[in-house]
Amino acid sequence: MTIRITGTGSALPEKRVTNFDLEKLVETSDEWIQKRTGIAERRISDGDTVSTLAAMACKNALEMAGKAANEVDLIIVATCSPELLLPCCACQVQDALGASDAVAFDLNAACSGFLFALNTANAYLQTGIYKNALIVGSEVLSKLVDWNDRGTCILFGDGAGAAFMEASAEDIIRSNGRKAGMECMLQGSEGAKGMVLSCAERAVNNAFMSGTQTEESPYIHMDGQEVYKFATKQVPACIQQALDKAGMTVEDVDWFMLHQANVRIIESVAKRLRVDIARFPMNIHKIGNMSSATIPVLLDEWNRGGRLREGDRLVLSGFGAGLTYGASVLVW
Ligand code: UT7
Repeated sequence: MTIRITGTGSALPEKRVTNFDLEKLVETSDEWIQKRTGIAERRISDGDTVSTLAAMACKNALEMAGKAANEVDLIIVATCSPELLLPCCACQVQDALGASDAVAFDLNAACSGFLFALNTANAYLQTGIYKNALIVGSEVLSKLVDWNDRGTCILFGDGAGAAFMEASAEDIIRSNGRKAGMECMLQGSEGAKGMVLSCAERAVNNAFMSGTQTEESPYIHMDGQEVYKFATKQVPACIQQALDKAGMTVEDVDWFMLHQANVRIIESVAKRLRVDIARFPMNIHKIGNMSSATIPVLLDEWNRGGRLREGDRLVLSGFGAGLTYGASVLVW
């Protein structure tokens, strides 16, 4: 059996916001942002929503896979910034695509969301419950960001990325002898450290309550240094564990596609794993941190740019609020 990605797609808002634009909002500088994060600009929604971006990314992925919407079995949207609490974004996407036979639901694992969706879909496909799945990471973080907080507003951007996964009964062997498809996955969560990166929803409120509950600030709060420490320690350890589990070493991997949160985090992971940084594709400089969307957008860019060859082995690894983290190993 082979479970592999046969189509990728992405959708980004048109509006580009540069570091120079941010200099006009908060006390910061292009030099500081570039040096500390690697980000030069990000895309910010001028009306696009999580569901419209997700639907567009899905259309592009389906088109590449050569599939019609009514052939889709499962849609999982990973997001932490949906425009509605109900219905879920995946059902909005189902409607927008006309994927009337699909089962659709959302999943929230913040920046690890796409990876968790990939692993969830993989488990469904492995068991034969479904034959294919559209998985999406889509975010409009610009509405959750406090544009007066220079510690966070410089980092985040909006966008969506999608992948279409298919199961086939036969093994597909690439010319380099590797069997195509999903090989190994690893996921973890550290809920005890959750409040280092948080964003409040509505406080408890009902007709029978005694007293009122204080509303928390509705914006993203982050202890950047704690997240940084977590990521630089946990991500390389998780990748190493996933490779150990698969009986491989870093030398067996062609590309390490990491959640694009900060160039320095990616460089630190490369150093800890003793892998050349050239094997860590990056696009953070032009789109910033789009949480669950970063990995699929990067994957789509690499795929459409012809930089992925059949038989390449990829490690996808994400980390973020929760705190959550994970890694997946697959052959293209
Ligand atoms: O998807 C997962 C989400 N989050 C992350 O991955 C975030 C991980 N963390 C980071 O990327 C980094 O911690 C940040 C980029 C957020 C911050 O970089 P840092 O090197 O950890 O800076 P810092 O928080 O230690 O701050 C250093 C200084 C402080 O000034 P003082 O106290 O030394 O005078 C900050 O007030 O830099 C100041 N600062 C800024 N200065 C200019 C913080 N933000 C800015 C800014 N512009 N935007």
